[in-house]
Amino acid sequence: MVRTLSPSNPSPMPKPIAPDAERSEGSAWGKVILLGEHAVVYGVPALAVGIDRGAVASAVKIDEGPCRLRLVGMDVDIAETDPDHDLGRAFHALLEAERAHSSRGMPEGLLVTARADLPPGGGLGCSAALGVAIARAVTSDASEERIRDLAMAWERIFHGSPSGVDAAVAFRGGCMVFERGSGIEPVRLKGSLTLCVGSTGHASSTKTMVETVARLRQRRPAIVAKAFDGIAALVQNARLAVEAGDRVGLGKLMDLNQMILSGLFVSTEEIERLCHLAREAGALGAKLTGAGGGGSVVALVSGGGAADRVLEAWKADGFWGFGTRIAGIDVPALATTETSL
Ligand code: PMV
Repeated sequence: MVRTLSPSNPSPMPKPIAPDAERSEGSAWGKVILLGEHAVVYGVPALAVGIDRGAVASAVKIDEGPCRLRLVGMDVDIAETDPDHDLGRAFHALLEAERAHSSRGMPEGLLVTARADLPPGGGLGCSAALGVAIARAVTSDASEERIRDLAMAWERIFHGSPSGVDAAVAFRGGCMVFERGSGIEPVRLKGSLTLCVGSTGHASSTKTMVETVARLRQRRPAIVAKAFDGIAALVQNARLAVEAGDRVGLGKLMDLNQMILSGLFVSTEEIERLCHLAREAGALGAKLTGAGGGGSVVALVSGGGAADRVLEAWKADGFWGFGTRIAGIDVPALATTETSL
């Protein structure tokens, strides 16, 4: 069952920051890249949507430093001075970026507690959502530029050279075309999109997968350039399909994007299996989402009944997934939905 989001079933909507209060909070969306991952690192636009799973964070002053980060449900409790932990270094980078900007100075000691409703390494923008939620909780300046700047300082520790699509969607939610260096164009969906997200059960490292494509690009520059040109054309058409409410067309474009991603060696047996099962169960299209090499698959379906069939097919084969609906312009606000098996 795909259920509609209501006030009693809230989404992690960004909350206002209260810099002078004892406690400040922030939140952020997770994301699904509909088309364009990997190519987006090299300047090709990507089409992405925010989903109603994300991250929340709160910050309180503590008597003395160093600042500490607790991740609920991930067994993480570290100081920003912890050099052996990526999370410690990412937390430190984010706080340093805030210290560099902040004219008011930051308290010596802060306890930041955060929680993500997304699988780490799942291709759903978990680290960016945490980065944006934590940035919102610690900064005295809630401008988009500042928050994304802090979140990118955090992201670079995990991803090396992230395109920024994850942080952009984590900040804004909604549907957008993101282009590295050029920015964001919000996209108006005609009708809503019902998506199924299926997990391969294996976390993957975005950094490793981005390096895989970089190595292939070094060895076979012409082939990879052609692949990226193909993805650019698919993204352009996918945007038109979304704006026209052409779900059948969008599904076909997603399938084509998956073929190109397989050719870039970022797909796996589990990803192909999940895509196959989804299409067999009636999905309009299916592809990996995020970095690949594990992580998640996104399948576009025609509605709630079709979502149930895809989720059941995955479950019968031992995979876990959830449904989510992205609201369009003619759909009442925040009709984002989710369910898990
Ligand atoms: O796996 P995720 O959720 O971090 O998404 C990565 C998307 C890539 O295009 C592969 C990398 C990037 O920085 O855009």
